[in-house]
Amino acid sequence: MSDHLIGLLLGTENDWPTAFEELMRRVGTVTDRSGEPHRFAVERMTVEPFDLRDRARQDLVIDRLAYWYYHPREWLKKAALTDDVYLLNSPFTFQSMEKHAAYCAMIRLGLNVPDTVLVPFKNAPEHGKYAYTASRYNRPFDLDEIAERLGYPLFMKPYDGGAWVGVSRIANSADLHRAYDESGQRLMHLQKAVDGYDVFARSLSIGAETMVMRFHPEQPMHARYSVSHGFLDPATGAEVLTVGRLVNAFFRWEFNSCETLIKDGTVYPIDYANACPDVAITSLHYYFPWAMKALVRWALYCTVTGRRPRYDLETRRYFDIADRSDLSYSDKLAEYRALADDYFETDRYADFCASRLTHLDEVAVEYFAGPEFDALLVDTVRNTFPWHEHDQFIGHYRGLVGSWVRDQR
Ligand SMILES: Nc1ncnc2c1ncn2[C@@H]1O[C@H](COP(=O)(O)OP(=O)(O)O)[C@@H](O)[C@H]1O
Ligand SMILES: [Mg+2]
Repeated sequence: MSDHLIGLLLGTENDWPTAFEELMRRVGTVTDRSGEPHRFAVERMTVEPFDLRDRARQDLVIDRLAYWYYHPREWLKKAALTDDVYLLNSPFTFQSMEKHAAYCAMIRLGLNVPDTVLVPFKNAPEHGKYAYTASRYNRPFDLDEIAERLGYPLFMKPYDGGAWVGVSRIANSADLHRAYDESGQRLMHLQKAVDGYDVFARSLSIGAETMVMRFHPEQPMHARYSVSHGFLDPATGAEVLTVGRLVNAFFRWEFNSCETLIKDGTVYPIDYANACPDVAITSLHYYFPWAMKALVRWALYCTVTGRRPRYDLETRRYFDIADRSDLSYSDKLAEYRALADDYFETDRYADFCASRLTHLDEVAVEYFAGPEFDALLVDTVRNTFPWHEHDQFIGHYRGLVGSWVRDQR
């Protein structure tokens, strides 16, 4: 018998961790190919002093905290370096590689990233030596000229952004200057807007699995994802999936979301570095059970098969494809896809799920159709919406998860 401990490093979320813990408990023991049983415990981690020589007890940690806080981030780095703990995601790949790096890398690989310019910050950082250095080396620049070159409308947004903070749509010079003045000490990108796009596809990836969902950013949270199957033609759907998987394999991000805008058949990736992708019941609704199953499956796959974490990016393998002039865009995508599938061991993973986790589907349907999940749903709605909306939203989410349950039967 092998015992595994899965750690959850959490902030304010309680919905998905509760569902995850319950599914893991119900899944029980998993037997590997050699016949050995594996048993799992899930634990919410606490922040406390740690000795750099302490051994980590966890085999795998799902992290939702270290992007913002130093102490857990340093714990994760220690666990990765000294104990080979498997991390979703690792600070080695997310702290150094944020949205800006992801834009650069995918431009290098030939993807249709809208034209983007990084401008110096508006207000000086608080640093004693800045004034001297800036007066000597910072060149004056013409913001309007940059915007006109990109063309209106455009978006101004933080180079490492997330959660729509500091994002503004810029229609003219007045908007431009107002947004830049407000950006203060945040470093900003100016990015050409994909205006009047046909479809917004947001894909959520967990390990080797990806769900491509139709997204409506203009809607309130409960209505942003629509339940819509086959909303992309097969070729575009495959391209969107490949873009997400490619980004994740390239940076070793294993729990990430990718936003693409599709206009006239072209797929424009605009945001695909989300260290802490949204997996709330209240936004994913119908897709929430899928996300929890995928998280359970990937955590089990990594621990049972002893998959080793990897921080070597091997960018050269991708760049060698990118630099070939004999390959078209779609040829390159196919080559990247092969590398990405290889990194995520998609075939081996599919085989593992089909042969080792045969009971998970049934366990999940029972859980999501049952009273414990319903109590979690009710509790989450009560904690998210004002009281006069509780009944309406409890009905709304019950209906959507209920239709997922029906679709499984
Ligand atoms: N180039 C763009 N073209 C069209 N819409 C965009 C573009 N960039 C951002 N947006 C809109 O702004 C939203 C937030 O921008 P995004 O880059 O996703 O920032 P964040 O990292 O904060 O989520 C996107 O979901 C999209 O609706
Ligand atoms: Mg976004």
